[in-house]
Amino acid sequence: MAKNKEIVVIPGDGVGTEVMDAALFVLRVVQKKYNYHFTFEHALAGGIATDTVGVPLPEETLEKAKKADAILFGAVGGPKWDNHPTHLRPEQALLGLRKELGLYSNLRPIVLFPGLEESSSLKAEIIEGVDFVVVRELTGGIYFGEKQRAKDSNGYEYASDLLLYHEHEIERIVRLAFQMAQNRKKQLTSVDKANVLESSRLWRTVVDRVKSDYPEVTVEHMLVDNCAMQLVRRPTAFDVIVTENMFGDILSDEAAILTGSIGMLPSASLGEGLVGFYEPVHGSAPDIAGLGIANPTAMILSMAMMLRHSFQDEEAASDVEKAVEKVLQMGYRTQDTKTEDEKTLTTMEFAEKVASLI
Ligand code: IPM
Ligand code: MG
Repeated sequence: MAKNKEIVVIPGDGVGTEVMDAALFVLRVVQKKYNYHFTFEHALAGGIATDTVGVPLPEETLEKAKKADAILFGAVGGPKWDNHPTHLRPEQALLGLRKELGLYSNLRPIVLFPGLEESSSLKAEIIEGVDFVVVRELTGGIYFGEKQRAKDSNGYEYASDLLLYHEHEIERIVRLAFQMAQNRKKQLTSVDKANVLESSRLWRTVVDRVKSDYPEVTVEHMLVDNCAMQLVRRPTAFDVIVTENMFGDILSDEAAILTGSIGMLPSASLGEGLVGFYEPVHGSAPDIAGLGIANPTAMILSMAMMLRHSFQDEEAASDVEKAVEKVLQMGYRTQDTKTEDEKTLTTMEFAEKVASLI
């Protein structure tokens, strides 16, 4: 019997729609081969939602998302909406979905596919063999703390963003990171700024307490500024990195360079609930939107993470990942990863190549 799954599809803005079409093309092939019956529910979010229904995250989208088995999300944002008031900015859709669905953990695997060494701005010998995962806390910290904007008694404006963490918010993400490390190379790096921030000192205390439950895992505390440096100095030394929301945002973009292009990086956002949320790490790339040249790899690999984490289908997930690897090995590239001799494909052509190998 076919396995029924309801997938909410939120393409969003800019290249979001293009990479989503590409990933769905591949997913339809997966559906056939692995005997699924997918129902695709399309939903609006981001700038396009503001333009169409007046808000970046319509209630209807949220309701659909809550009922889904999994959510595929493209990207949101663009210059058109940059001057909108905060509550109408496209990013609010993403932040709202993360918060409302309780998606507190964001997994960002950083893997260098063989052949892409030359696409990176770093030396091949530094990045060869890179394979680690950033576990980013996603529903707390400075992203969601109280925000203020006011005028002081002299009439000068001031603003503040509160960085707040409760112990239980730290503990659940740290435990998840320990479990991941346990199943990998058993090496956890907890990244903070404990020399300055009180929230980081609490973070460290929690990590030190939880570690006794995972005696096989080696833990190292690392300050975020040092981590930023180590990532480009000796990236192969990392296995699992766990960190708070904003540090994770910044470090994962930096880490993208280790894989050749930010167009390569998938992510999965998970919580206590059943619904998983899958999105590329890259944004809406307004500069190339509509040209059909965006790299769909991150979206395709995010879809593979959906198969793995939401549908517990390791076989189908690695089938997709191997197909991507093979296409790259055959010398096919998109414009962002092209160096010289390779054949450059459009977004859809790349997806078709991947699909043909599944
Ligand atoms: C990311 C993005 C988002 C974030 C933006 C679009 C709000 O940069 O997913 O990394 O900061 O979390
Ligand atoms: Mg980011």
